[in-house]
Amino acid sequence: MYYPDELIEEVRLRNDIVDVVSQYVKLERKGRRYFGLCPFHNEKTPSFSVEPAKQFFYCFGCNKGGSVIQFVMNIEHLDFLEALKHLADRAGITLPEPDDQGEREKANKRKELLELNKEAARFFFSCLAGKEGREAQGYLKRRGLTEKTIRQFGLGLSPSGWSELSHHFLNKGVPAELLLTSGLSIKSKNGELIDRFHGRIMFPIFDIRGNIIGFGGRVMDQSQPKYMNSPDSPVYNKSRELYGLNYARQSSSKKLLIVEGYMDVISLHQAGIDYAVASLGTALTQMQAWILKKYADEVIIAYDTDSAGQAATLRGLDILEEAGCQVRVLMIPQGKDPDEYIRNNGPEKFKNLVDRAISLLDYKIRVQKGMNNLDTVEDKLKLLNSVADILANHDNSIERELYAKSYAEQYGISLESLQSEINKRMRKNQANQRKPNKSPERRGTQSSFSLPQVEQRYGELEYMLLVMLCLENRLYSKVLKAYDLTQFTDPGARRVAEKLYDKLENNKSCMLAELLSEVEPGVASYLVHISETKCELEDVEKALTQLLNKLELLKLEEIQKQTIERIKNEQDGVRRQELGLEFSRRAERIAELRKMT
Ligand code: UTP
Ligand code: MN
Repeated sequence: MYYPDELIEEVRLRNDIVDVVSQYVKLERKGRRYFGLCPFHNEKTPSFSVEPAKQFFYCFGCNKGGSVIQFVMNIEHLDFLEALKHLADRAGITLPEPDDQGEREKANKRKELLELNKEAARFFFSCLAGKEGREAQGYLKRRGLTEKTIRQFGLGLSPSGWSELSHHFLNKGVPAELLLTSGLSIKSKNGELIDRFHGRIMFPIFDIRGNIIGFGGRVMDQSQPKYMNSPDSPVYNKSRELYGLNYARQSSSKKLLIVEGYMDVISLHQAGIDYAVASLGTALTQMQAWILKKYADEVIIAYDTDSAGQAATLRGLDILEEAGCQVRVLMIPQGKDPDEYIRNNGPEKFKNLVDRAISLLDYKIRVQKGMNNLDTVEDKLKLLNSVADILANHDNSIERELYAKSYAEQYGISLESLQSEINKRMRKNQANQRKPNKSPERRGTQSSFSLPQVEQRYGELEYMLLVMLCLENRLYSKVLKAYDLTQFTDPGARRVAEKLYDKLENNKSCMLAELLSEVEPGVASYLVHISETKCELEDVEKALTQLLNKLELLKLEEIQKQTIERIKNEQDGVRRQELGLEFSRRAERIAELRKMT
């Protein structure tokens, strides 16, 4: 029985590996990783690790590793589908029975809902464009939105009447039940359908593929609530969506900027800052953090810097860090939100703020500083103690030292005494965490698995080839034709390719985490690294062609070099001519390839 990747992904996302493993293994945190005694082999010191950021487990002792699904397979002795079922149950997800009619209906329902939402967005849009929309158009104009932006984000207006939208769709034959499930309509006391949104500016919420999955609606005056939002539905799950990600993921920037609101995202995109997304007023969830991690190397958080915003920022930061994101905090002066700031100061000034976004550590310390008046000696001591706390929990020793130095200077105390406070705390922290036999420590997305050296051009290209193949198994036949096992130059890549090709040959599909459990440690690190490499799926076919071209180019250039040598050394005139002919034929192909890559 075949399950779509999204469903498997969903099951995986909804089962945090740390939670699941903790049911079987006593885990202790050590930096960014958890350690415990390996359940798969006998050991006295823990070498079994769980990486929350990557949602992988890996045992340095017996070399077993994989995703949460492999963990359950191994520990419960289940096959893949059984493990999937087990985890789906655990997360309250119903997996389709083989050829389940109910499941097919559900899929149809989702389709219908998306279709209805699209129609509704059209309805709102034409309402905004019509006579009734004058006021709303004026409002949007006053807020500085251009026609183009309004179109890009599909903004609209919900009619002010009670049930215009509901009637419109009922008349078109849309079932009442569908309108209710979508959240566009609600049932009035007397059982009739009325609209959820009245006289509001409508913001369609897009999923990553650009489907409309829900709406937010803003009043145009001071009345409350300022925004109303679609409820969760079979197509909309607040805790995992990020407003604007459908656009932001196409940005050429490698960062993502997280803001709070619809208007912030829209203003930023209009101003050319096309990597902004919003968590829509709610605290950032772990799921959102994992999704962010998937699309960006660095995440900058730009929440309100008032004290409520500060608490939200700090929570969000921890979640992001835990997911393995590189995080910085953007501070907007005078408690403005990004939209207001841009309108008052222009995009360039905002971009400066992005460049000056501060590190997590810096932010935490500033928050501490903000909470103390620093008038008295006591205040100063309190601050220095919190600084010592923060620094003691910070992995990067260089940053730790720099900050300690700067604080000691700033507050006129000796570096030694601050350092000794930090050391004291670090010792205490360490005592609290039983030391695993290996405790590789590094920061952020850097994993302490020894990463493959991919500087070499072959290595790099072959590596990317495998990344693509892991992501899109269907490319296998094309890859095999152009680049079989004998052509691999990089030894690490070849080892992985052997395994991967073998799997794909026999199974037709292979998840990366599956492979992890079967390879030796060096290769496992290579795989872990592969799993962390992003790759835009839409372009993958084109990218593959380019990649294969590059590899061919590299090979041909190498042969050309050898040919030149051979021509130089060749005594036989006829043979030399032949070689020359080969050379020019190859040169043609090279020129062709160069043009294509
Ligand atoms: P804000 O109050 O900061 O709104 O709420 P905003 O986006 O800046 O909107 P403007 O500039 O006043 O027009 C941030 C986000 O919180 C959610 C919305 O998603 C909003 O964009 N929110 C806010 C609600 O869901 N309901 C509310 O009543 C208020
Ligand atoms: Mn605002």
